[in-house]
Amino acid sequence: MPATVIVGAQWGDEGKGKIVDLLASESDLVCRYQGGPNAGHTIVVGDEVYKIRAIPSGIIQGKQSAIGAGCVVDPAVLIGELDDLEARGHETAALVFVSGNAHLIMPWHVALDGARERKLGNLQIGTTRRGIGPAYADKATRIGIRVQDLLDPKILWQKIDLAVAEKNVWLERVYEIEPFDADEVYEAAAAHATRLGPYVADTSLLVDRALRHGKRVLFEGAQGTLLDLDHGTYPFVTSSSPIAAGAAVSFGIGPNRIDAVLGVSKAYVTRVGEGPFPSEIEGDAQDRVRELGGEFGTVTGRERRCGWLDLVALRYAVRLNGITSLALTKLDVLSTFAEIPVCVRYALPDGSETEEFPAHQSDFHHCRPVFETLPGWGVELDGPELPAAARDYVRFVEGALAVPVTLVGTGQARESVLTLG
Ligand code: IMP
Repeated sequence: MPATVIVGAQWGDEGKGKIVDLLASESDLVCRYQGGPNAGHTIVVGDEVYKIRAIPSGIIQGKQSAIGAGCVVDPAVLIGELDDLEARGHETAALVFVSGNAHLIMPWHVALDGARERKLGNLQIGTTRRGIGPAYADKATRIGIRVQDLLDPKILWQKIDLAVAEKNVWLERVYEIEPFDADEVYEAAAAHATRLGPYVADTSLLVDRALRHGKRVLFEGAQGTLLDLDHGTYPFVTSSSPIAAGAAVSFGIGPNRIDAVLGVSKAYVTRVGEGPFPSEIEGDAQDRVRELGGEFGTVTGRERRCGWLDLVALRYAVRLNGITSLALTKLDVLSTFAEIPVCVRYALPDGSETEEFPAHQSDFHHCRPVFETLPGWGVELDGPELPAAARDYVRFVEGALAVPVTLVGTGQARESVLTLG
């Protein structure tokens, strides 16, 4: 498909990096459409481990890689990644493109993110504290600093000077932490400008031209559907639009240019941070899934909460994204379980049951999962075919969602992905 979106169908960490890595080999251009260094993709190639947060992972295969206007860019993180890739022999100069319209994460955004979370105490969102929310807030308030501002020293200084004057009031008076010095921030930004200047591009035109020339473009979402600012489990969400439509918005192309949407879901569910989680596993089995799945955050190292597969939430993801096929990752993690519960409905506080994701937050907060238990397969998934019970598990998911599962993750290695159908 010329234009394919890869979207996380749960709360992030679905293993999108591996699927993008797989499909990138057949693509010409890989585009990251939202978020910033709150995301982290780990890609293992032979003995090399790459942890990428800003640049689309296609860069590892030498593909053109673009960061869209809907992203927020921490310049120091991006430069660190560029330096690391170059030191490991990957060319970046003619391959990495950053939208001039993307917004910069400035040092006060990171400071405010952390300070606000600390102040919220028990009510905190559990953010990655990378400055994501404050950077998007400034974008919406129209006082943000954009990547293209790096190219104009006068504008850059004006914006930094103005921002520091305002942010320091918040930092000192509301959060009682150290203020920033405008000159110091400007000097650091000016150094970033020199390094990043050559990568700044019109990424809308880049994608438009690629599609018009019949190139294959892969749009890579970060986080996941349920962390979407508009449609996710607000306020326990991120501040951008991970859903598939976000790709068109971020890259400035019409939604009718997108041909396919591949949803990526784990064979179970994980969630980091706070917020309701109906299918969260009770007791020791949760620790077992966490250990087997290595469920610790790439960016923060935090333990991920683990749950059984939630078909109600996944059905919602199919609807919100227009998912045309699914990749079910980490099926191997379930191999040692004799029985595998799957959440098929929610029981609501009024006594009714539903297969559809509740539109009202109170229903979601207070719903109880209704499980159906499927038999496990009890063997490793190391063959070219799935064992019958594992195949049935996949068929059950397909039947419930009316979407084909075309890829199944069966192990950590890059090649441990089975293509079905
Ligand atoms: P923020 O994006 O750092 O503002 O965090 C907001 C919420 O999104 C928190 O619950 C985070 O744990 C969650 N979150 C952000 N990025 C990721 C990710 O890449 N994977 C999973 N959860 C994430």
